[in-house]
Amino acid sequence: MIRGILETIGRTPLITIPNTNRAGEAQVLLKYERFNPGGSVKDRPALYIVEEAERRGLLRPGGTIIESSSGNFGISLAMIGAAKGYRVLILVDPKTTDANLALLHAFGAEIIVVTEQDDSGSYHKTRIALANKLARETADAFRPDQCFNLLNGEAHFRSTAREIMDACSGKISAFVAAVSTGGQLGGISRYIREKAPEAKIVGVDAIGSSIFGGETNPYRIPGIGLSWTPTNLDLELIDCAYKIPDDQAFLAARTLARHEGILVGPSSGACALVALKLAQELLPGERVVCMASDGGERYASSLFSEDGTARQGAAASADPEELRGLARRLEPWSVRPAEQANYRPDLAESLDVPETTLRMNETAYAESARR
Ligand SMILES: Cc1ncc(COP(=O)(O)O)c(C=O)c1O
Repeated sequence: MIRGILETIGRTPLITIPNTNRAGEAQVLLKYERFNPGGSVKDRPALYIVEEAERRGLLRPGGTIIESSSGNFGISLAMIGAAKGYRVLILVDPKTTDANLALLHAFGAEIIVVTEQDDSGSYHKTRIALANKLARETADAFRPDQCFNLLNGEAHFRSTAREIMDACSGKISAFVAAVSTGGQLGGISRYIREKAPEAKIVGVDAIGSSIFGGETNPYRIPGIGLSWTPTNLDLELIDCAYKIPDDQAFLAARTLARHEGILVGPSSGACALVALKLAQELLPGERVVCMASDGGERYASSLFSEDGTARQGAAASADPEELRGLARRLEPWSVRPAEQANYRPDLAESLDVPETTLRMNETAYAESARR
């Protein structure tokens, strides 16, 4: 018997994509995070940070969880708040989809829509600054602070990374993940570097995001990108970075739905494209593990009806051969990401990062190693 929904977080499957990934190349394995009860990879850091906050007395019964998130992390916190009885307040922005707003409502979260853009034209900094202000003004508030809290990466170090390496008996040739807060790529790269130092570790971002340097411009892939390099990600551990155009990410997600029967969101489409590229460069028998951070239902109206796809039916999805060709032609954005780092140590102060985050950061990974 499972005691409550939160016990079902984690232990997600690794899935092959045999109709797209051919026998003469390395095997691509998708770590399919849609199987988490909140529907995404973010259930893991959300539960980990909330339970660490409870353990350290930073979140007490009757408390309020306040977070900035336009998507998956907010939904995970809303689900966790419903299950554990906390009030949850999520700061979203005008780009947040109706599907995500409906899920936040379903779990009973309160929602604030932040409409003021920051200096990069996105809403990340304005949302974070307001969330920090509200947390200071609200009694018994706790800010999980996914962007600056290093326990985000530690959650993946302790769960996602271990699951991957155990399932592969410690043998992988490459690992691919998309980046926003850097939690996934940061935590998992740290673990893989310890257990399989030769594995190639690859980050995936949107064209228009400047996590791996470059210009900041608008893009449409939901959930990924930032206008600075997040502290959860140590670029010294990353071998290579790709920036994927919006349309290719969407096309890859549609192809996986149509030809593999696997519903993933656009960030997973972008990662799968890069994983197929790496698989073509490696040998049969080698493994490329690729994060599929969420499922496709969340994007049903944009992903599967974009450009009239709904009307055109299957014709608008690429066939696997076309996708493999697109993958083959991809060029890395950077083969030495650390040289294009865009860390912004000033942001912690200017955005007023909470004291609780700084306290949690003091013990990040150290506590993890002891347990
Ligand atoms: C769909 C999706 N993919 C990828 C990411 C990036 O993950 P991380 O924030 O751990 O870097 C996110 C983060 O919100 C996401 O929602």
